[in-house]
Amino acid sequence: MLRLDGKTALVTGASQGIGEAIARLLGRQGARVVLAARNEEKLKRLAAEIDAGGGCARPLVLDVTQPETFGERLKSLPEDYGAVDVLVNNAGITADNLLARMSLDDWERVLRTNLTGAFALTKEVVRGMIKRRWGRVISVSSVVGMMGNAGQANYAAAKAGLIGFSKSLARELGSRSVTVNVVAPGYIQTAMTDRLPEAAREELTAAIALKRLGTVDDVAWAVLFLASEEAGYVTGTTLNVSGGLYI
Ligand SMILES: NC(=O)c1ccc[n+]([C@@H]2O[C@H](COP(=O)([O-])OP(=O)(O)OC[C@H]3O[C@@H](n4cnc5c(N)ncnc54)[C@H](OP(=O)(O)O)[C@@H]3O)[C@@H](O)[C@H]2O)c1
Repeated sequence: MLRLDGKTALVTGASQGIGEAIARLLGRQGARVVLAARNEEKLKRLAAEIDAGGGCARPLVLDVTQPETFGERLKSLPEDYGAVDVLVNNAGITADNLLARMSLDDWERVLRTNLTGAFALTKEVVRGMIKRRWGRVISVSSVVGMMGNAGQANYAAAKAGLIGFSKSLARELGSRSVTVNVVAPGYIQTAMTDRLPEAAREELTAAIALKRLGTVDDVAWAVLFLASEEAGYVTGTTLNVSGGLYI
């Protein structure tokens, strides 16, 4: 069940956090994994660990805000890694501030990485999926894209944008057996949330139906399902992985 043998998966933002967990899980399930991000050292270390555990992974230094480099970077991969079957648009940043204090640069940086990056890389990679009549595009959004969050107008706009983008693409690509879906995590325990003061963490946890923060693996399992053959009739949907923070 949920095996990805013979498939190649490209995960952006694979150098840490949620992306790293997704890459490890897809690798464990038999996929060849392309680990994309900017930090080459971290990617090389992770690729070596996945290989040592019996999987197959290759680092790919890629900045999602530099679409003009995508073609050449993807061509640098060994041939069997070049045909991407599963694309996970996970790379993301925040630059939080209340609207009155949010600069145009903070707005544009967040949109460029979280939304335009996913658009540009999907456009590059999906051509091969269409030719081969099989593909999975999964973008990591956030419940903030559905609920909104004070201080995150740029991030929420980008994450909501990923949902509209994916629904449209699902309609465009369905006839080629390419599915396009979104995973929307709630509060996930990462380096970022570890820094929250205890009182803020307690308040946050109280709002979650399951009364705990999510783990990076909670998100990775949802991505694996949407990447699998078994999810072949699921497209244009958003899988909310928030422990009931957003219902
Ligand atoms: N943590 C949460 O609670 C939470 C909740 C909902 C949604 N999310 C979403 O889940 C995704 C992963 O979050 P996370 O918590 O794992 O974040 P993280 O620990 O900050 O990791 C972000 C990843 O994105 C990569 N990245 C950033 N800018 C990039 C760029 N220009 N090009 C390529 N890669 C880039 C980073 O790698 P390099 O720096 O090496 O490039 C890193 O691997 C994000 O889209 C985030 O918005 C997270």
